[in-house]
Amino acid sequence: MARADTFAANPHWLPALPGSALDHVPGEDGWPIVGNTFRILADPPGHVRRMHATYGKVYRNHSFGGRNVTLLGPEANELVLFDRDKIFSSEQGWGPTLNQLFPRGLMLMDFEKHRVHRRTLSVAFKPEPMRLYADVLNDGISKRVKEWRQQGEIKFYPEIKQLTLELAAVAFLGTTVGPEADKVNKSFVDMVQASIAPVRTPIPGLAMGKGVAGRKYLLDYFGREVPRRRKGNGEDMFSQICRVTHEDGSLLSDDEIVDHMNFLMMAAHDTITSSGTSMVMQLGRNPDWQDRLRDEMDGLGINDDALPYDRLGDLVLTDYAFKESMRLMPPVPSIPRRAIKPFSFGGYDFPAGTFVGINTHFTHTMPEIWPEPQAFDPLRFSPDASKGRHKFAYVPFGGGAHMCLGLHFATMQIKILMWHILRGGRIDLPQVSGDKWQAWPIPKPRDGLPVRLTVL
Ligand code: HEM
Repeated sequence: MARADTFAANPHWLPALPGSALDHVPGEDGWPIVGNTFRILADPPGHVRRMHATYGKVYRNHSFGGRNVTLLGPEANELVLFDRDKIFSSEQGWGPTLNQLFPRGLMLMDFEKHRVHRRTLSVAFKPEPMRLYADVLNDGISKRVKEWRQQGEIKFYPEIKQLTLELAAVAFLGTTVGPEADKVNKSFVDMVQASIAPVRTPIPGLAMGKGVAGRKYLLDYFGREVPRRRKGNGEDMFSQICRVTHEDGSLLSDDEIVDHMNFLMMAAHDTITSSGTSMVMQLGRNPDWQDRLRDEMDGLGINDDALPYDRLGDLVLTDYAFKESMRLMPPVPSIPRRAIKPFSFGGYDFPAGTFVGINTHFTHTMPEIWPEPQAFDPLRFSPDASKGRHKFAYVPFGGGAHMCLGLHFATMQIKILMWHILRGGRIDLPQVSGDKWQAWPIPKPRDGLPVRLTVL
């Protein structure tokens, strides 16, 4: 959907800005119509570096159907994410990219409506359900790591992607997806690919057409299940969301449940896949860190195969290593918003209606905050090293009202994954493995990350 259609379909949105509204901001429009879109898609971090070197920390761009501004650095992150004055709409920021595929997901709601839905959904992330998800994760990951060890060289990215989907199916849906697994997986892949498709019209066979077909399939899949889940007493995320009530005692409607589930599956799936893969790559390249993490695990004195939920907090070095992997390769490299009120930043005034982007990846590699930014050094996250660092210098999970609802789930899954890989085992990486990554929309190794998981 082009931006003009997006506004027409959402009458409460602000109208498009007049073409000249951002003329006073330094920047460039690129080619006619497509602007810098293809340049960005070809090398997203390279594009940001070039724009920053040319124009500084505030610049104007033309991409994905219109003009927008990028604000770089922790102060920009704080302004936009913390959003003290309720200036920035997430719905209108993510909307042009996601609305056709993931409408009414939590991230596509604003302010009071968002607060109400977030509070309602939070029930599925409280300690008791998390404890049950931990069992599901331990069980599924333990089995799969044993298989990987027997298989010799595997491509880690597709393997963890498939496993993450299967685990989400059990933890979120309470049952294996079964024979529909491949169709569910393909529908998600098609939807995520479509979210950055340059052609926004759903033409069958092209990315957006496939994405819209995938959404239709998943809506049907979840929709069929709602009545059954309402009546049952299942503990999985889907069943809980089917039964949960708002502050006024009302249940979520069928459509709301389906949209939330669809969004949750999307939010969980590729982000964990990406961060798990980059962490395995970093540990493969830094075997000394594998030893340190394993020593810490062995030091916990746990004889069981599973990592108990109550001991997650004891894996301190694993936590630092996960953070460091996401510093270098944040699964969500940039975050869009739209200003619904005028605002000022960096000496410039911006009108209501401005599309604004912040860049996680850029902030995470600023040398003035992170010395030798490309070096893998998990101890950057020790309390001593973190002292005095800007609160918004590290934002892999965002911040403020929209901060990732699944961050504890994601951290738990990664810790359990590392527990089963490293306890009594090792990651061996062929030399060129993971040399080239596709940076956007979600980082992914072009070679799938060949790897051997071996028993020590
Ligand atoms: C390493 C894994 C993950 C990363 C890096 C990540 C990152 C993010 C980021 C950056 C945002 C905020 C976007 C914004 O402000 O516009 C976000 C929001 C969200 N994430 Fe995650 N995420 C991860 C895993 C998950 C998982 C596992 C789930 C669910 C189980 C999840 C559910 C959500 C939801 C529901 C939101 C919207 C929150 C709101 O708008 O209030 N995420 N995530």
